[in-house]
Amino acid sequence: MTVPRIPFVSLTPGEDAPEIRRAIDRVVARGWFVLGPEVEQFEQQFATAAGASYAVGVGSGTDALMLILRALEIGPGDEVITTPLSAAYTALAVTMVGARPVFADIDPVRYTIDPERIAEAIGPRTRAILPVHLYGQAADMAAIDRIATAHNLPIVEDCCQAHLATAGGRPVGTIGVAGAFSFYPTKNLGALGDGGAVVTNDRLLADRIKRLRNGGQTDRYRHQEPGCNSRLDEIQAAILSARLPRLRGWTDRRRDLADRYRFALAGGPIALPTGCDDGHVYHLFVVRTAERDALQRRLGAAGIETLVHYPFPIPRQPAFAQFAPAECPIAARICDEIVSLPLHPRMENENVAEVAAVILKGHVSCER
Ligand SMILES: Cc1ncc(COP(=O)(O)O)c(C=O)c1O
Repeated sequence: MTVPRIPFVSLTPGEDAPEIRRAIDRVVARGWFVLGPEVEQFEQQFATAAGASYAVGVGSGTDALMLILRALEIGPGDEVITTPLSAAYTALAVTMVGARPVFADIDPVRYTIDPERIAEAIGPRTRAILPVHLYGQAADMAAIDRIATAHNLPIVEDCCQAHLATAGGRPVGTIGVAGAFSFYPTKNLGALGDGGAVVTNDRLLADRIKRLRNGGQTDRYRHQEPGCNSRLDEIQAAILSARLPRLRGWTDRRRDLADRYRFALAGGPIALPTGCDDGHVYHLFVVRTAERDALQRRLGAAGIETLVHYPFPIPRQPAFAQFAPAECPIAARICDEIVSLPLHPRMENENVAEVAAVILKGHVSCER
């Protein structure tokens, strides 16, 4: 495998390596590895950073979503309305509680779930709305909130790609009943393994999720209800605490790189991401062109790594066929045209210029 000249993301030790090593050493020296002081400290710090009253550390972003749905008593026979354009894990979390994901097509400008399609999808079995703040940009929460309120439905926010993002100035994860975050290593705040968190302003919900993540135990060996084992471990929590103070700076750098891409690519052949909300945190910089495959090949030949988020709408995945999902034609079209360009805090400004040059050069030669 050849190493790309401009990789999509860089996960080798960076500027925070000394803090991470100190964090790991501290946990190893203490000899306390599951549900201890590091998790408690990180939960407090992350709640503050996310603008929420409570955070609960769990095993992954998928589990965070699943545990929120469980705590809301959503299960077999129930439906949860969600987007067709996301990591499939969003909808898998719905199936993990035994409920049916119902897909409402996306807004073609913002790429997040279309509030009008949500309204059409609501039926007698609908128990929650699950929008995803995709690529770092919030879904249209004002409109979704109006629909949810009118139908008395809870909103569960998938914030796995949206650490520190805001929607109309409000922190994501605090608009609905709860928000789910992922700390998968490539996320804006990443661990050195899997991890996730639920944030909420509802103390009872936070307490219930704390119990559910730990087998449903109230006290040691006393299981009040059938929970699961989904705990953020002490080493990951210590690493996340060490990294958290840098998150604001990393987010600013992501925004700066996105601005540079916008400037360099303005007037070019590809559609740039729509900045519908200033609170965008650019987990991904996703551009769009009908010539997507050719563009990806050309960038690849120039040593520039790109990815597609995502090549198919979730309802087209065989894993969801059993739920007889609705066709989502807008998501299907967008999936054929999108490509994610490299964007991460360790990228150099020159890298942006190089990526843009390859995109623009190809355009000129195509036209001749
Ligand atoms: C939008 C979205 N939702 C959910 C998930 C699942 O998170 P995790 O991989 O931590 O389970 C991810 C990560 O892939 C994601 O990007």
